[in-house]
Amino acid sequence: MRDPYQPAFSKYMLLFGMLIGVAFTSIALAASEGSGVPVSSAEAAATGMNGEQVYNNVCVACHYPPGVGGAPALGDAEAWAPRIAQGMGTLIDHALNGFSGSTGVMPKKGERLDLSDEEIIEAIEYMVEQVDH
Ligand code: HEC
Repeated sequence: MRDPYQPAFSKYMLLFGMLIGVAFTSIALAASEGSGVPVSSAEAAATGMNGEQVYNNVCVACHYPPGVGGAPALGDAEAWAPRIAQGMGTLIDHALNGFSGSTGVMPKKGERLDLSDEEIIEAIEYMVEQVDH
């Protein structure tokens, strides 16, 4: 035992290091809570995206031309005309609640249940607008 203090010292250093780690994690968590960014919540919280952004982040996965799994592609008038003819109410209902039609399956809110109804509706409006042009 040439240096009896050495082992005890490193043990304390380890503990000290862990405490700093815990402290930093708590500060980081507190900061992210205060920033107003919705972390996760059972209730649909608006992410602040407009219709075009929702399309580009979510719906694009299936609705990007030529359309995946039977999804009507963005801007495809032929695919959209009969759907638009059903009326906006039906399109909204099918996108919000999910819909199994003749070409495939439209999942509830495009599988983004964290988005608000309003955001989904704006994305539908965006997609419908692209057909007119
Ligand atoms: C996992 C793939 C997928 C994603 C993601 C997806 N869709 Fe769809 N969607 C489909 C398919 C497939 C159909 C066609 C269903 C059918 O008519 O058989 C469809 C159809 C639709 C329709 C037409 C419904 C009707 O009555 O004809 C709307 C409106 C729609 N989607 C909106 C959206 C919006 C808005 C998003 C993004 C928030 C989205 N979709 C994301 C696959 C998807």
